[in-house]
Amino acid sequence: MRFSDFSDRFHPGSGILELMDDLSMTGGSDRKTFMLGGGNPAAIPLMEQCFREEMQAVLADENRFEQMIGNYDAPQGNKRFLRSLAELLSDEFKWPVTEHNIAVTNGSQSSFGILFNLFSGKFTDGTSKRILFPMSPEYIGYAETGVRNDIFEARTPIIDAESHGDSTFFKYMLDMETLNLDSTHGAVCISRPNNPTGNVITDQELSELCSATRSADIPLIIDGAYGPPFPSILFREATPVWNENIILCLSLSKIGLPGLRTGIVIADRELIQLIQGSNAINTLAPGRFGPTLVNRLITNRRILDLSRDVIQPHYFKRAKQTVSAIRELMRELPVRIHVPEGAIFLWLWFPGLPITSQDLYLRLKKRGVFVLAGHHFFPGLSGIWEHAQECIRISYSGDPEQVFGGLQIIAEEIRHAYG
Ligand SMILES: Cc1ncc(COP(=O)(O)O)c(C=O)c1O
Repeated sequence: MRFSDFSDRFHPGSGILELMDDLSMTGGSDRKTFMLGGGNPAAIPLMEQCFREEMQAVLADENRFEQMIGNYDAPQGNKRFLRSLAELLSDEFKWPVTEHNIAVTNGSQSSFGILFNLFSGKFTDGTSKRILFPMSPEYIGYAETGVRNDIFEARTPIIDAESHGDSTFFKYMLDMETLNLDSTHGAVCISRPNNPTGNVITDQELSELCSATRSADIPLIIDGAYGPPFPSILFREATPVWNENIILCLSLSKIGLPGLRTGIVIADRELIQLIQGSNAINTLAPGRFGPTLVNRLITNRRILDLSRDVIQPHYFKRAKQTVSAIRELMRELPVRIHVPEGAIFLWLWFPGLPITSQDLYLRLKKRGVFVLAGHHFFPGLSGIWEHAQECIRISYSGDPEQVFGGLQIIAEEIRHAYG
């Protein structure tokens, strides 16, 4: 078969395809595997119990189950859900949000597919624009979402390797000096908390990004897949922010419902209407299962309590355990860990690593350990940055024994690589 250029986007070398493939490969095989790669959330018994109860309530209702499976939703998303969420956001955060500022999508991955194409490429004034990631590394899933080539640009961060009172840690910081926004940028996008690093940009950094994007008259896209109001996997203070120049993307995946494919966009009304149009044209309507299942949790605000009292403490504990395990297993190795400030991953940096991150990934995969090679997380970065080849991402959301077992093998391979 012969395909158009459009097929280039779906080539087998894409990082996100590799990741999702690895994620599905681990089941069903006899070989012992250690899944530290994918983005699956942890199976938290209290959350699973809660979702089961919500499902039972949907089933017990006279109409809700039949409506959920038997009717298309509105292209903007389930009306009851939009109203409940708008109420939660305006009550809890005092944001000037109504149901007209919210749209549902089939997972936030698909939200980014729409947003990045709306704000990049050719504009009616004759200019060509790109999406800027102000602080690499950034989420692997952004790469290849553009229908045109070359729609991303990225900046490198300042590496703060000193100020943590502990030489195991380092932290990326936004370099405002190199931001340089101009008419070639259509939007700026940042994940907060960041996937892959677990970094959370400070309120000050966020405020500077807000001012810079406002002055340049372009929107700031904040990927809140791990942020507030839910799942709010934050290990440091970070104020949630929204205004009409911010496009906040949320998801139900990391509260424990990735199978339901529900993304949420909170933005200016004009943009919400475009997303509504895109939903109608591309998928008729977004899925109805997620909004129906969590609507009661949003109305009674239990989703906030669960995020604060169950989800956040779970990951905080797991992050601490995983850091301790790395310290113990790699005591004599030159490993540095990005300060875990949120999300569900640790980002490990091996300065001067004699092999590439892809070689390390392949060596580990051979031994049944799945991690993510660091170089995938730099969409839009031009030139060679050796640092990108010296890092890997590991997820600590899996069973602790599996994570520990995987780390033992990683330590062996790293020792071997340094010779
Ligand atoms: C930072 C970030 N954004 C977006 C997504 C996409 O999430 P979903 O499409 O499941 O809502 C993920 C998934 O891992 C993520 O880590």
